[in-house]
Amino acid sequence: MDRTRDLRGAADADRCDGCAVAEVGRRRFLRDAAVMAAAALAAVSAAPVAAAALEPRFVKGLRLTDQTKSYPIPAADGVSIDDDQSVIIARWHGELFAFSLACPHQNTALRWESDDQEFRCPKHHSTYTPEGVFIEGRATRSMDRFAVSRDAGNVVVDLDRLYREDDDPDLWKAAFLKL
Ligand code: FES
Repeated sequence: MDRTRDLRGAADADRCDGCAVAEVGRRRFLRDAAVMAAAALAAVSAAPVAAAALEPRFVKGLRLTDQTKSYPIPAADGVSIDDDQSVIIARWHGELFAFSLACPHQNTALRWESDDQEFRCPKHHSTYTPEGVFIEGRATRSMDRFAVSRDAGNVVVDLDRLYREDDDPDLWKAAFLKL
C-alpha cells in the first residue's frame, strides 16, 4: 500500500481553500478588517476636531446695562474668554458657568488648558476643574463665580455679583445654569 499517497490524500481532504466555509471565513475577515480600518480612520480624523472644539475662544459680551453682559450660550462644551470684562464663560457637561478671569490667589489671569481640560494659573500653578473647583496649588478656594441667568439662547452675567466659595458658599454653589 502506498502510505505516502494515503497521507497526501488525507492532507488534501483536510484543506478547504475553495470550500464554502473557507469563503465565508475569508469574507468575514475582510469585512471585520474594513470595519476596524474605518473606525481607526474615524478616530484619527475626529481627534483634531474634538481638540479644536476645546480650544478657548475669545468673545465680547453684549452690554445690557452697566453691570450686565449677555453672551450666546455655546453650542458645545468649551471655554470662552471676554478679556475686556475679565469673564470666562464655560460650558461643561450640561452646565454653564461665568467665572472671574482672576486667579483667587493673587489675581493672575487664569488659562484654560484644553489638553488637560482644566484651568491653570501661570503664576503659582493652581489648577481648577472646568466647573471652577479648586484642585491643587497655592489658592485656598475655587474660582469666583458671577451670578448668571438665562435669556432664551443667551446667558446674562451680572458683573456686580461675584461670589466667593469661602464667603458665600450657597450663592457660589447655585451660580450656574443647567442646560
Ligand atoms: S496667583 Fe494663581 S496660584 Fe498664585
